[in-house]
Amino acid sequence: MIDQLTIDRIFAAADIVDVVGDFVTLRRQGANYQACCPFHTEKTPSFVVSPAKGVFKCFGCGKGGNVVSFIMEHEGMGYVDALKYLGRKYGIEIQEKERTAEEVKRNDDRESMMVLNGWAAEYFKKALTSTPEGRNVGLSYFRERGFTEATIEKFGLGYCPEGYDTFSKAALAAGYKEEFLVGTGLSFKREGHDTLTDRFYGRVMFPIHTVSGRVLAFGGRTLKTDKTVAKYKNSPESEIYQKRMTLYGLFFAKKAISQLKCAILVEGYTDVISMHQAGVENVVASSGTSLTTEQVKLLKRFTENITVMYDGDAAGLKASLRGIDIILKEGMNVRIVQLPPEHDPDSFAKAHTADEVQEYIRSREEDFITFKCKLLMADSAGDVQARSAVIRDVVGSIAEIPDAITRAMYAKECAVIMDVDENLLLGEVAKLRAGLSGDAEEREFFERQRQQKMQEAAETLRQSSASNSGTAIGSGIEELERELTRYLIRYGHLSFDIKEGTQLKEYNVAETIVDMMRNVIGFDFQNPECRAIYECYVEHMTEPGVEVPLSHFINYPSAEVSNMAVNLLTMDDNYIPSKLWSEHDIGVSSERDRLSEALPRAIMLYKSKVIERLSATFQAQLNNPDIDEDTALDIVGKLRVLNNERNDIAHKLKRLIL
Ligand code: CTP
Ligand code: MN
Repeated sequence: MIDQLTIDRIFAAADIVDVVGDFVTLRRQGANYQACCPFHTEKTPSFVVSPAKGVFKCFGCGKGGNVVSFIMEHEGMGYVDALKYLGRKYGIEIQEKERTAEEVKRNDDRESMMVLNGWAAEYFKKALTSTPEGRNVGLSYFRERGFTEATIEKFGLGYCPEGYDTFSKAALAAGYKEEFLVGTGLSFKREGHDTLTDRFYGRVMFPIHTVSGRVLAFGGRTLKTDKTVAKYKNSPESEIYQKRMTLYGLFFAKKAISQLKCAILVEGYTDVISMHQAGVENVVASSGTSLTTEQVKLLKRFTENITVMYDGDAAGLKASLRGIDIILKEGMNVRIVQLPPEHDPDSFAKAHTADEVQEYIRSREEDFITFKCKLLMADSAGDVQARSAVIRDVVGSIAEIPDAITRAMYAKECAVIMDVDENLLLGEVAKLRAGLSGDAEEREFFERQRQQKMQEAAETLRQSSASNSGTAIGSGIEELERELTRYLIRYGHLSFDIKEGTQLKEYNVAETIVDMMRNVIGFDFQNPECRAIYECYVEHMTEPGVEVPLSHFINYPSAEVSNMAVNLLTMDDNYIPSKLWSEHDIGVSSERDRLSEALPRAIMLYKSKVIERLSATFQAQLNNPDIDEDTALDIVGKLRVLNNERNDIAHKLKRLIL
């Protein structure tokens, strides 16, 4: 067994292109990568890797999955061994044996630390609002900074009392072990002392949450203006907290990030909080460190677009520019917005309304590379040597971009800004990327292959769309479950129309499916994978119309479930290659367009199947000679209800099908 935290870390760290690329030569193809399938013999590549979704899929033999299933399949390993392989590759420590008593304890230890942090967060909250010291010192500080009660509550802000060990004593008295107080860093032992000291005494507290909202660490801000005291103290790195893997505020921002399809990156705790309070919620912070690859990957699960917001003063700006290259390297689109000189995001958000902040970002954000190019050029005006350094620097950034077309676009733009030959820039970029890009002849070969592939795909599609118009009447219950699960994870956030009388009424796909499952007794998917995916969906669903990130299903801890998800997402449809098709204008009446017709039909068919099954069960109970009269009457009643329902459905189905 490997604990969930470790599995999450492995999935966050593992890059599907990198993992598959160790065994297969991948070629970039638009947003995806292509290769000849390693699982069957073929001459033209039909094996596709989607870095954005973290999945692979062969459109020839049908094999598909995530990083772990690729290793399982390719290396013939089990789930745990595949995880271990990836753990080694990415330097993530995992237990090597079956769990020994010691390892069980370690896992329990992590949980104990999380539980302690949860308790501590509550303690700090209470100390802030319910003690005179907290109110006079902590709460009045937050109020002075303009934080509202709702904001303080939302971010779980708190206060750690003065007195060096007030908190530690309370925690020990509440039954928390010294071991975990030290492990989480909430307390520590001073040289030559037996008792615990509070790390955060006299500080206001900012809990740091996991993506799912549990507290895994704290930042504590001093209220002193004394420059010799560190402004922030943070929980130390531990079994549960690794700074480079965490983004402050992501739990509160993830919904807005998915909705707005963009994340704003700021530096500090208070920047995030003030922006939220101003009504701009797609904001996260790297918490003072320069951004790490892990943080970028984490963000990439929610969006590919990132806007870096910088303080007005240009001093720190140039130093931080380099760090942004790692965002480019992950293939994300980076924009930058510079605030007026007197502001940081915190003060700017406080001085403006949400609309003003949004309008400012909208009108001022600039593409990162051109921004950098302009900024550095202005600086090096007239200095030949400085100018060639700038060119090298810009070339370095462009070379990080994985997509060739995007690189070419930037080379063109930056060549104009820097007044150098575009081909010279491209040549320098190519040199830096040497080894990565094939020669011209090879490229031409792949271009030919690609066109042939697309023609084949179009042909297959023409044939299959002629014969396949959704769920067949004779579909079995398992097939229908898979169908509904697929609609849920793919189209759950969309809506479809149903004619009611003369009006078209709009329904949300997920709500419709979930309502059906919740409201009818006996409705529970029989297939365990479908059930797990359904439950996972319900767990992560925030509100109708908001997409649940596919990564939840694709990276599901059980290989069976994740494989099922990948298959559902890619099955008999243009899921991954859709971009290729749409590029070439091959008309596809997509499944999405047929939702209004296909979903009600699948639901009706499924309902009728479940009713059949329930009726059979009840009938069998009635046939039992030992049945008592009350039970029998009860069952007869249920059968009558089912029968009515059955007639109703038969009627509706007839209308849908004719
Ligand atoms: N930081 C830290 N340790 C410090 C200083 C800063 O960990 N000694 C981190 C914190 O996460 C902080 C971020 O770096 O939020 C940005 O630092 P800074 O701009 O100095 O702090 P602010 O968040 O702006 O805090 P305040 O507005 O209260 O000054
Ligand atoms: Mn600040």
